[in-house]
Amino acid sequence: MRVLRRALGTLLVLGGLGAAVSCTAAHGDDARPGAGRRAALAPYERLLPAPASARAGGAGYAFGPGTVIRTGPDAPREVRQVGELLAEQLRGPSGLPLPVAQGQEGDGIRLRLDDAARELGAEGYRLRTTASGVTLTARTPAGLFHAGQTLRQLLPVRGAGVVPGGEVTDTPRFAYRGAMVDVARHHFPVEQVKRYVDQLAQYKINTLHLHLTDDQGWRIAIDSWPRLATYGGASEVGGGPGGYWTKAAYRDLVAYAAQRYVDVVPEIDMPGHVNAALASYAELNCDGRAPERYTGTKVGFSSLCVGKERTYEFVDDVLGEIAALTPGRYLHIGGDEAHSTPAADYAAFMDRAQAVVAKHGKTVVAWHQLAGARPARGAVLQYWGHDKTPAADRSAVAAAARAGHPLILSPADRAYLDMKYDKATKPGLSWAGYVPVQRSYSWNPGSYLPDVPESSVLGVEAALWTENIATRSEWELMAFPRLLGLAELGWSPAAALDWPAYRLRLAAQAPRLEAQGITYHRAPEVPWE
Ligand code: ACM
Repeated sequence: MRVLRRALGTLLVLGGLGAAVSCTAAHGDDARPGAGRRAALAPYERLLPAPASARAGGAGYAFGPGTVIRTGPDAPREVRQVGELLAEQLRGPSGLPLPVAQGQEGDGIRLRLDDAARELGAEGYRLRTTASGVTLTARTPAGLFHAGQTLRQLLPVRGAGVVPGGEVTDTPRFAYRGAMVDVARHHFPVEQVKRYVDQLAQYKINTLHLHLTDDQGWRIAIDSWPRLATYGGASEVGGGPGGYWTKAAYRDLVAYAAQRYVDVVPEIDMPGHVNAALASYAELNCDGRAPERYTGTKVGFSSLCVGKERTYEFVDDVLGEIAALTPGRYLHIGGDEAHSTPAADYAAFMDRAQAVVAKHGKTVVAWHQLAGARPARGAVLQYWGHDKTPAADRSAVAAAARAGHPLILSPADRAYLDMKYDKATKPGLSWAGYVPVQRSYSWNPGSYLPDVPESSVLGVEAALWTENIATRSEWELMAFPRLLGLAELGWSPAAALDWPAYRLRLAAQAPRLEAQGITYHRAPEVPWE
C-alpha cells in the first residue's frame, strides 16, 4: 500500500489510486493559468469542500440499476426523508430507479444513525465504500444529509458507474456556513431562492440569510402592517414592478430549506435602509409625511423615527411576526449604513430593537456597525469590512469579539458575490474592488481579523447584493464559482486550504455545474474540465 501525504498534510490518500495521486502532486504548486490541464484528480481528491480526511482503497461499489437506498428498519422520519431526498437527487442524473427501503440488509447505499459516533458531532459523517455498497454514518440526520452530498460527488455526473473503494471522515470547521441574498433591491420568485438552497446545500452551506427589506422594497407580508408589502413591495431598483412573498410562500421556502438542513435567517434592516416602510406608512416618519417610493441605488438616506413610540410598536409587530415564521434561533436586524441616524439615536434604537428580538425568543444578528453601539449579550456581529476599512472599526469589532460576541465573516473584498470579478464582468459593483476567484478563496477565516481568535468566529457568509442583479443568470454568474470557495472556507480544515489544490477541485466541478444548468464564470485562473 502506498501512502502519500498531500500538500499541507490534511488529506491522506492511501491505496489503489497511486497514479492519480502522484499526478496531482507533480503539478500541485503550479498556479499558472491553464496549468495542470492533464491532471485528473482521483474521485476522493475532487471532493469540494475538501473533507477533513479521505482515504481511497479497496474494491469499489457498482452503482447501477439494482441499487437500493436503505434506511434502518426503525429509522426516524428525518432519516427516511434524507434517504428519499437523496434518491430524488440521484435519480435525475443517473436515470436509475433507486427505490428507498426501510431495511439495512443487502447491498446498496445505507444510511445509519449512530449516536455513539461522538467524533462526528452535530453535522459530521463517515462514508465508507466497499464492493457491497456505500455506508453513510452520522450522529444526526444533518450529518447523513451532508454525507449524501459527498456521495453525489463520487458518482458519475450522468448514468451508472463505480464508486471507488475508500472512506471519508468529515466534520465542519465552522458551525455557521452562510449565504445571503438581497431580495429587496430586486424581487425574486421563491422558486429561484429554492434553486439556490439546493445549490448551497450541495456544498454543505447550512444557512440562508434573506435580506428582506430595504429602501427599494419590502418583500414579506406583515399582517399587522399590510401596506409594507402591498405598497412598499411594489417597487424595485430601476423601476420594475417588484413584488413580495406571502407568509405561506415564505413558510414553504423555510420548510424546503429545512429539509436540506439549511436554516433561514431573516433580516429586517433597521434603523436605516427603511424607505419602503416610510413610504408605506406616514406615521412612521418624524414629520408624519410619507416619502415617495425609491428605485435608485443610493444608501444611507432613510431612518426610522427614533423618538416616536409608534416606531417601537412597528418594530415589535414586525419582529414578532417574523419570529413566528422562523424556526431557527437568529433574527438579523441590519444596523448597517445608518448614516441618517445620529450616533446616540442609533445606539438608543438598537438597544430597544435588540430587546424586542430577545422578547420574541431569538438571538440578534446585526452588521458589525452594532459594535460601535451596545451589542446585547449574545448578539452576533457580521463583519463586512475590507482591506481599506479603518483600523479603528476593525478594533471595535475585535473588542466586541473579545467581549464574547461571535462573528460571522463576510469581508466585502472576498465574500461579497456582487463584486465584479474583473473589469469585463457585466453585472455587479466594484466599490470594494474586483474580487477574482483566487482572491475570494485565499484568506483564512480563523486568523483574518487582527486580535480575533478563531474561537470567536462563528463562520463565513457569502453575500449577494442585487442593486444591479435582476435575473437568475446574473445571480448565478456572480455566485458561481466564488460560492464554492467560500463554502470550502467554512467547512474544510485550515490545513486543506490551498489555492493550487483548490483550483483543481474547482475545475473538476465544472461538468456538475453544467449538468445542473448553472451559469458560472469561467475564471481564467482555473483549469476548467
Ligand atoms: C452592507 O453591505 N451594507 C452590509
